[in-house]
Amino acid sequence: MDHVPSDALVFFGATGDLAYKKIFINLQAMIKRGHLDVPVIGVAKAGWNLEQMRARIKDALEKHGGIDPAAFQKLISVFRYFDGDYKDPETFRKLRAELKDAQHPAHYLAIPPSLFESVVEELVKSGCSKGARVIVEKPFGNDLASAQELNRVLRNAFDESDIFRIDHYLGKRPVHNMLVFRFANYFMEAFWNRNYIESVQITMAEDFGVQGRGAFYDQTGTIRDVMQNHLFQVLCNLCLEPPVRSDSESLRDEKAKVLKAIPPLTPKDVVRGQFRGYLDEPGVKSNSQVETFGAMRLYVNSWRWKGVPFYIRAGKNLPVTCTEVFARFHKPPTIIPESQLTANHLRFRISPDMAIAIGMMIMAPGEVMEGRNVEMLASREPRRDEMDAYERVLTDAMAGDATLFARQDYVEEAWRIVDPVLKQQTPVHNYEPKSWGPKEAEQQLAPTGGWHNPTAPVQEEFSLEANA
Ligand code: BG6
Repeated sequence: MDHVPSDALVFFGATGDLAYKKIFINLQAMIKRGHLDVPVIGVAKAGWNLEQMRARIKDALEKHGGIDPAAFQKLISVFRYFDGDYKDPETFRKLRAELKDAQHPAHYLAIPPSLFESVVEELVKSGCSKGARVIVEKPFGNDLASAQELNRVLRNAFDESDIFRIDHYLGKRPVHNMLVFRFANYFMEAFWNRNYIESVQITMAEDFGVQGRGAFYDQTGTIRDVMQNHLFQVLCNLCLEPPVRSDSESLRDEKAKVLKAIPPLTPKDVVRGQFRGYLDEPGVKSNSQVETFGAMRLYVNSWRWKGVPFYIRAGKNLPVTCTEVFARFHKPPTIIPESQLTANHLRFRISPDMAIAIGMMIMAPGEVMEGRNVEMLASREPRRDEMDAYERVLTDAMAGDATLFARQDYVEEAWRIVDPVLKQQTPVHNYEPKSWGPKEAEQQLAPTGGWHNPTAPVQEEFSLEANA
């Protein structure tokens, strides 16, 4: 489907942390690739002028990726800044004047959700929302009720097709590649279902703590920060049925169907943990019960997946930084004693490198009759010129392609699943930094065959190098 490209980018929160760390560097990358050639208008309330803002952009680029002289000059030339109160109608009147003849601006709200309502109202009153689209950042609500309220606010002013809710995980190439791998390889279909797959694990491990974001993190916790959004998106890519058309809505329909098939979590399906030392982080309450580790078991009650447990785990201060999917097969009904068999597996590695591996039994070398578990592996390091996830999603939003964005029904279904446990204050168990989380995750939620703990380097046994 053809979409109307945006003819201006307005971003609120221009002096904020997200802009500093992620947005400027990706705007520069979009310019370099020829994907951004419209006025960019930064808005913030910091008492700054354009010169200060330009210095900030330069500093942001130097610290977060480096300056490309030509693209930087272009960014500076298309960038305009004005300082204004988000609650003051005058700010938006000036914005409308600044937009000049732009008919389809994109308003990027890189600001706390508590400000959405007033900003959206003023966008409407000033005429800035006419013909426009809006791009919003996570966290998208704090629970089901607040997400519904945010949706109500946005839907008062914009059509669903003009609302782009960012989940940067969808901009990651390996996340997208999961769909390509599933639907471009016919052999996958034969075994990718409850008849062959015994369980599936998704682990997102980070070997660092909250990195100075204690105040934000202590309002959020792991389940809200990465599980309900990023890891549910990965789950959907694993579980969805082949879309019947290639447009954004056909794919997003299938994702919403996956979530609809998942019953709400109960306390016995969830283990929460907190690393020792978290309470000493700046911005964290001294008696905080917020989790820095979460593990959950859920079921997708669809024709394809009913009865297969999905284990999802994420945490800060774990031994490695890595996101990986590990699907275990049933063991075969063979004459080889079961104790000598390791179940086959399929491993999708999403970061830091990309890998797809199939684990299988072969005969070990030597005279003894022994089996060995090996992997057939296709892997590659990200290329230096590859799009960052943010560049991907911002490029698509400017082009009006909603495929990589979370739709209203999807977001609300995701909250429906986690809401009951978030409201129940389940216990928080301590764990040692650089460990795989609290022992309760092993005791209460261990998959058959145990948790698969991803390792930092790619394991190479048999290697089929992908030439891509
Ligand atoms: C963010 C979370 O959404 O995703 C962070 O707020 C987390 O806590 C980050 O570290 C992980 O993203 P990435 O792209 O670095 O894997």
